[in-house]
Amino acid sequence: MRKKVIAGNWKMNKDVFETADLINSLKSFLPNSEIEVIVCPPYTSLVIAQQLLKGTQIHLGAQDVSVRDDGAYTGEVSIKMLKSVGCDYVIVGHSERRQYFHESNELINQKAKKILASGMKPIICVGETLDEREKGITDQVITAQVKGVLAGFTSADLAKTIIAYEPVWAIGTGKTATPQQADDVHQLIRKLTGQLFSWNDAEKFVIQYGGSVKPENAKELLHMPNIDGALVGGACLKAESFIAIIDGAKS
Ligand code: PGA
Repeated sequence: MRKKVIAGNWKMNKDVFETADLINSLKSFLPNSEIEVIVCPPYTSLVIAQQLLKGTQIHLGAQDVSVRDDGAYTGEVSIKMLKSVGCDYVIVGHSERRQYFHESNELINQKAKKILASGMKPIICVGETLDEREKGITDQVITAQVKGVLAGFTSADLAKTIIAYEPVWAIGTGKTATPQQADDVHQLIRKLTGQLFSWNDAEKFVIQYGGSVKPENAKELLHMPNIDGALVGGACLKAESFIAIIDGAKS
């Protein structure tokens, strides 16, 4: 059985003081070992988060990383830097990065390979826009994204990778894909990974859903056959709602 993985993408929220408050509230709750929990604060909060999370089962993740190793790239943060502050995971290819920073599948693929080579694990986001869904081309868009971001991966790479399916029209809008709509796309991604790798690899592959996940809809989404977790934005900024979502993942 696949483990459920719940990640909180804090986006550009919480300074160090607010980070300490949120992490301390989350720490009072010990995640059930059947569920893996990841928090992804902004870069400036990673060090304090790492210190406060020591000795807990909660994993630390970053929201992005540079594709460059080091050097004169003002404003960039490298893989080595993320590793040195104890990150286990790095989100790449979030739709906000694709949209506002023009990140391509190719760049996301390069970042994911570097993350894997460093021993950390990528959470790679894919998802269609409202326009693409309305045109009836969701399957083609997702297929192209998945093939692009996983290009050159081995089965061993896949085993350490998570894909988050995040329909762009559901992010931060309060509109959630219905559990069936989400599961259909998850099933497509699983089939595709079966074709690209093996059915055995596809069976074990963790696919998260993201897009307005909240305590009210988490349980139903997280009990669909192909949904193995959630990438949570807005609702992870308060301990109570994030914990309620984690509770919703319990079998
Ligand atoms: P949301 O964000 O839960 O606020 O919709 C999800 C995400 O962007 O990862």
